Amino acid sequence: MSNIKHVAIIMDGNGRWATKRYRPRVWGHIRGSAVVSDIVQAADDLGLRALTLYAFSTENWSRPIEEVSTLFRLLKKFLLKEKMRLLANNVQFKVIGEIQNLAPETIALIKELEDETRSNTGLKLTFAFSYGSRSEITRAVNLFQEQNPGKMMNETDLDRYMYRPETGDVDLMIRTGGEQRISNFLLWQLAYAELYFTPTKWPDFTPLEFKKIIENVSYRERRFGNVNSQTGLEDSLMKAESNKSTLFKGVNV
Ligand code: IPE
Ligand code: IPE
Ligand code: MG
Repeated sequence: MSNIKHVAIIMDGNGRWATKRYRPRVWGHIRGSAVVSDIVQAADDLGLRALTLYAFSTENWSRPIEEVSTLFRLLKKFLLKEKMRLLANNVQFKVIGEIQNLAPETIALIKELEDETRSNTGLKLTFAFSYGSRSEITRAVNLFQEQNPGKMMNETDLDRYMYRPETGDVDLMIRTGGEQRISNFLLWQLAYAELYFTPTKWPDFTPLEFKKIIENVSYRERRFGNVNSQTGLEDSLMKAESNKSTLFKGVNV
């Protein structure tokens, strides 16, 4: 069984895909949105625990208004179109990001789908929409301070105050479209993720390539700071703690 349980994807390259075909950028988004359902299905088939998709960043608000409104329209369409399938497949759906800025109708659709899938036990599907990782982190810190005045925050606290703590750390982050950057996506959760950058633009991304990437990455040795692979990050951290206390017993450091 693969050790890859939580995959996050930056679905990039729609605009360039369309421009190369002498079509408007929004055409790329329309074609790209059709790919999303196939990849969600593939994630389910592969037995992933969580799939987090970056659909719209806080920085993407600065794009031309027609492009932004097309992206909103496509989100709404996805919510309506996929509802039955998500329910039938036992998927637990959630949107993370500053959704208060979206149209009330879209917010209502999101809430409805989140509520209806809340008790599902299958794939945890997350849409990062109007999402920025720095904003997620500062929001978490502010919320923590508000609820725990005067208390120091530790790593577990910060984990717990993220938008969707139950999805946990990312095992593999894939970015399509050829760029090799993170673009303000899950900075905290990616700390020990494997990174995979493919030149394939999102509208051309297929379940087959997705499966191959996961297979390929499963062979990588994830050491989590240790000299050889461990069961996981938790294990490695525990070993580090125990080594620290053994080594520095009685010594001032
Ligand atoms: C990704 O495709 C989708 C969003 C950012 C919303 P882009 O629109 O960024 O496509 P490129 O990178 O310009 O090709
Ligand atoms: C990142 O892509 C955001 C999404 C895919 C939703 P961008 O195209 O916005 O990122 P940059 O501008 O290349 O960093
Ligand atoms: Mg882009």
